[in-house]
Amino acid sequence: MTAARESIHGQWSSRWIFVLAATGSAVGLGNIWRFPYITGESGGGAFVLVYLACVVLVGLPIMMAEILLGRRGRRSPINTMAALAEDEGLKPAWRYLGWMGVLAGFVILSFYSVVAGWAVAYIVYVASGTFAGATIETSQGIFDGLTGSAGSLVLWHSLFMVMVVVVVARGVQGGLEQAVKYLMPALFAMLLLLVGYALFSGDAVSALHYLFEPDFSKITGDAVLTALGQAFFSLSLGMGSIMIYGSYLPNDASIPQTSIIIAAADTLVALLAGLAIFPIVFGYGLEPGQGPGLVFITLTIAFGHMPGGQFFGGMFFVLLTVAAWTSAISLLEPVAAWMVESFGWSRLKSCLVGGGGAWLLGIGSALSFNHWAGFAPGGRNFFDWSEFLSTSVLLPLGGMLIAVFAGWRMRLASTMEEMGGGPSAMFRAWLGLILFVAPVGVLVVFLEGTGLRALLVDALGRLAASVFG
Ligand code: TRP
Repeated sequence: MTAARESIHGQWSSRWIFVLAATGSAVGLGNIWRFPYITGESGGGAFVLVYLACVVLVGLPIMMAEILLGRRGRRSPINTMAALAEDEGLKPAWRYLGWMGVLAGFVILSFYSVVAGWAVAYIVYVASGTFAGATIETSQGIFDGLTGSAGSLVLWHSLFMVMVVVVVARGVQGGLEQAVKYLMPALFAMLLLLVGYALFSGDAVSALHYLFEPDFSKITGDAVLTALGQAFFSLSLGMGSIMIYGSYLPNDASIPQTSIIIAAADTLVALLAGLAIFPIVFGYGLEPGQGPGLVFITLTIAFGHMPGGQFFGGMFFVLLTVAAWTSAISLLEPVAAWMVESFGWSRLKSCLVGGGGAWLLGIGSALSFNHWAGFAPGGRNFFDWSEFLSTSVLLPLGGMLIAVFAGWRMRLASTMEEMGGGPSAMFRAWLGLILFVAPVGVLVVFLEGTGLRALLVDALGRLAASVFG
């Protein structure tokens, strides 16, 4: 029994608070902004199906593993990995897995805050009636006007980052738990309302075909990697957010049960966002693959036409900001907790240094929509690279190593103890997924999607040719 640790940062007051906080972390821009736009870029139904498979077969077991590791280690991800490696008699190098997570968290927070800044800006735009009677041109024009102005982007980005730092500096339990309790259900209700509006006033039939009728000819290795990365991104996996939230989880809470609730809620919100957006996209003849502006351009047209749109639209962007906020704090928390533990800094100082670093990096993302738009080595600008490297590279890699650690390196007795005791059917199902399906799946998709597989095959071919030829 080594599970008797306590976290120096505190503990959730109940497992429901944990579910709430972890759902708050999971549900964010990933669901409402990113899921619809990458679905649009990746061709619709088949992508959605691949995404769902990634959530169930890879995301869910890795979520359980992350919570399990966090609760056993009861520290920030870097120190948790170090402690667990020691407990289990493994190499201290496992701590680098924690380091990778911190790096991923920095990069994600940097561009996340820029996009969250758009949501904050849109509260003001929509509530002041800018979109009344909006056409595609006005809506597109307003979005381009915002992203074209480096000054505005940096301003909103800064404002959002300050909001994040303030909350994390006060400790998560302080006030956020209370706010989330009411605001997340409100977001959900608002989404349902928008889905209803979109289905009746937009082109529901095309949208449903697009989202749920798979056309597998559109699935490339790259699209599968995008789907896998999105599963990690949306479920907050692979960098330590869920791990650190797990480190504040009471010992008697069921890990499988809480994980299933969190993943189901997250997936539902993503699908609802798709149902709110695509009927409008097709109803107005918009381009589904237009990229990161999709949500901002489509929904505002709907708000511009519906009765009370100014009010509902304003509310929607308030809620989107809140959803992004509760996610962003879980990106900063692992970094801040690590600084507190390792340097003995105050929470405030840790948050200022961590948040400040991510803020600085975020300026690069803000500029890539305007001054640096032309700077795109490899076809990706600074924003695209930040998004790709963190989401499609670091998160899957981190997730795979978490699976290897929990499945292959930890003692069975340790994982079984955290997962609820006996060799139940649930435990065996988890074990099968975490031992084989998750790590192999991630590896194959990763090699294929990044084009590394082709490179390897080529290199091996040359090697064979030079040895035998
Ligand atoms: N899951 C959040 C969203 O969908 C973003 C997020 C929070 C995240 N913590 C994370 C993404 C950790 C990856 C890793 O908006």
